[in-house]
Amino acid sequence: MRLSAIVSKVILVAWTTILFLDHSTVQAAKGTVLLHRVANTAASRTNAQKRNVAYFGDINVGTPAQHFTACFDTGSADLWLPSDSCMSASCSLHQQYVQRNSSTFAATDGLFFIAYGTGAVEGTTVYDSLQVAAPPITIQRQGFGLAEQASDAFTVASCDGLFGLGFPALSKQGVLPPFINMLQEDLLDAPEFSIWLNKDTRAGTFPAGELLFGGINPARYSGNLRYHPVIGAKYWRLELNGVKVAQRNVTQLNTSSVILDSGASLIFASDEDAATINEAIPGMVYWDDAGVYNVSGGCAAVPTLPPLTFTIDSTDYTLTPQQYILQLPEDAPEYCVSAVIGGGTQQYLVLGDAFLRVFYSVFSIGNAGQNPSVGLALST
Ligand SMILES: *[C@@H]1O[C@H](CO)[C@@H](O)[C@H](O)[C@H]1NC(C)=O
Ligand SMILES: *[C@@H]1O[C@H](CO)[C@@H](O)[C@H](O)[C@H]1NC(C)=O
Ligand SMILES: *[C@@H]1O[C@H](CO)[C@@H](O)[C@H](O)[C@H]1NC(C)=O
Ligand SMILES: *[C@@H]1O[C@H](CO)[C@@H](O)[C@H](O)[C@H]1NC(C)=O
Repeated sequence: MRLSAIVSKVILVAWTTILFLDHSTVQAAKGTVLLHRVANTAASRTNAQKRNVAYFGDINVGTPAQHFTACFDTGSADLWLPSDSCMSASCSLHQQYVQRNSSTFAATDGLFFIAYGTGAVEGTTVYDSLQVAAPPITIQRQGFGLAEQASDAFTVASCDGLFGLGFPALSKQGVLPPFINMLQEDLLDAPEFSIWLNKDTRAGTFPAGELLFGGINPARYSGNLRYHPVIGAKYWRLELNGVKVAQRNVTQLNTSSVILDSGASLIFASDEDAATINEAIPGMVYWDDAGVYNVSGGCAAVPTLPPLTFTIDSTDYTLTPQQYILQLPEDAPEYCVSAVIGGGTQQYLVLGDAFLRVFYSVFSIGNAGQNPSVGLALST
């Protein structure tokens, strides 16, 4: 071998080693976000819809990093943060992004408006670097919204901004949502993220949950994951074949699908379907003032209530009464109400955190986004 060939081979080896090292230190192939949660102290429907009981974790944006907390929401697809020029009360009460401080900030002329359950937010679409999870996953150029106005509903939000985990078709900003960007940039081992929510909802429990980008944590579930195809690639929407109370079919439901929504604390149905389901449970009475269903026998009667089953495709997912009844306020229970409440759409049932605490969930986009699915197993 000629000397130059040996030299170039050595250089090549050294170079690929550096590349490899670079790869393993810069790119996390999976990363976990530890989640926090603030206890629910109210019973009313409007309070349940506000996002003050959502699960949130840390993110860093910009260079040097500006630190925020974000509510991780599988029921929307946009990332937004309060801008430092936002004058709304809800912005002033949260961490605000200062664009002039970031050397990697880039403006666009795009405007966005998003209406959620009770609140709305609007502003401009911008780009900056985003870092999330540990080990860190870094997106060099992530589009997100800078809120210039946010409704009062966000005043009580436990997070600074929202981090949508839905499909691009659901985005109101016309940019790729962070998770999809991670896949485009080849930052993840597998095209999926997984959510575990702690069953212990007492105040101060940490972590209150875990969001794992790029994989599945087998320590957080038991038995096998059952995968269900996603309908429509907008929401994480699955086919609902029925609802059962004590193994008896609840008939005359209007809805035939569910969406899995980590940004919703309860189980939302249309007023009709909420009535149909709750009236099938013995001893439930509608409490008009609060828009929720009471356990008439009080909290002492909860263990006597039947199980509630959601049949997704052909698999039964069953909640015990302790899981579908909320004791409120959480810190000092005074009354017990059903987690199934009205005010939702007729199109699908929203299975929120009350469901996701019972079932570990894997949100998979499939190969090239061709066959998205959700895997569910009993959470540990
Ligand atoms: C922005 O920069 C100013 C001046 O250096 C500093 O006082 C301020 O804390 C920074 N704000 C953020 C959110 O980084
Ligand atoms: C209950 O509903 C399922 C569909 O989820 C159906 O296959 C079954 O026949 C129904 N059972 C009764 C007794 O109606
Ligand atoms: C919705 O359900 C109610 C029963 O709760 C039924 O009377 C009504 O016909 C249903 N509507 C549709 C569109 O299926
Ligand atoms: C529901 O429970 C609360 C608290 O015990 C009580 O104040 C309210 O009157 C109850 N409503 C109904 C309709 O039973």
